[in-house]
Amino acid sequence: MSIHIAAAPGEIAPIVLMPGDPLRAKYIAENHLTNAILVSSTRNVFFFTGTYKGKHITIGASGMGCPSIGIYSYELYHDYNVDCIIRAGTCGSYMTGIKLYDLINVEVACSESTYARTAFDYMKNNILHQGKAYQSINDMAKKLNVSLRTGAIHSGDAFYRADPSLPEIVIEHNCLGAEMEAFALFANAQYFGKSAATLLTVSDIIRTHERISADERERALDLMINLALESCLQMS
Ligand code: HPA
Repeated sequence: MSIHIAAAPGEIAPIVLMPGDPLRAKYIAENHLTNAILVSSTRNVFFFTGTYKGKHITIGASGMGCPSIGIYSYELYHDYNVDCIIRAGTCGSYMTGIKLYDLINVEVACSESTYARTAFDYMKNNILHQGKAYQSINDMAKKLNVSLRTGAIHSGDAFYRADPSLPEIVIEHNCLGAEMEAFALFANAQYFGKSAATLLTVSDIIRTHERISADERERALDLMINLALESCLQMS
């Protein structure tokens, strides 16, 4: 048990796949895992542990934003000795060349967030993916013939902003899109010397407000989930 996760020690697998939404965690566990057991539902943030093609995997939600994923990923690494967390989420696209349903494997997360500074005295505004998970995902995408972009993402603190122009940090790092969690996940993984990747499906185009409907989301995310789960099989 940790402060925010009720699972007993040993009920969380060494690899965790982490969507943002608790109901998406439930959907993935019910549709992709065998013998999935609900191991934590504190605050309705669900964690399920089961097997995928014989490999022990936990699917657990992060909630939204750096503070939330900061808590869950910290406790997974520190209290449950998790080796690798793969965030599987959605993002908005900043660039016209990046379309709805495109997949992005995040090489570096850029943020104005104070999370890494507050937690670890880490002063840079960008943090790389950590460990081998990122490369495993790139390799698996090639093997499965899934098209995948790599690059920088903006982990923003504000979903709604008064100023419609591109944030400074997006221009500075040539960020492909916006989400709200990768920066804190990578900061925690770096602090603990663990592995972390973030795989994203483009769910909206920021400039035009075009978006995947709520109904389409589940189906749209299956390609990303399959890629993430197959990549997990390659990791020790
Ligand atoms: N901004 C921030 N986070 C997001 C977005 C967005 O446009 N889309 C999905 N997550």
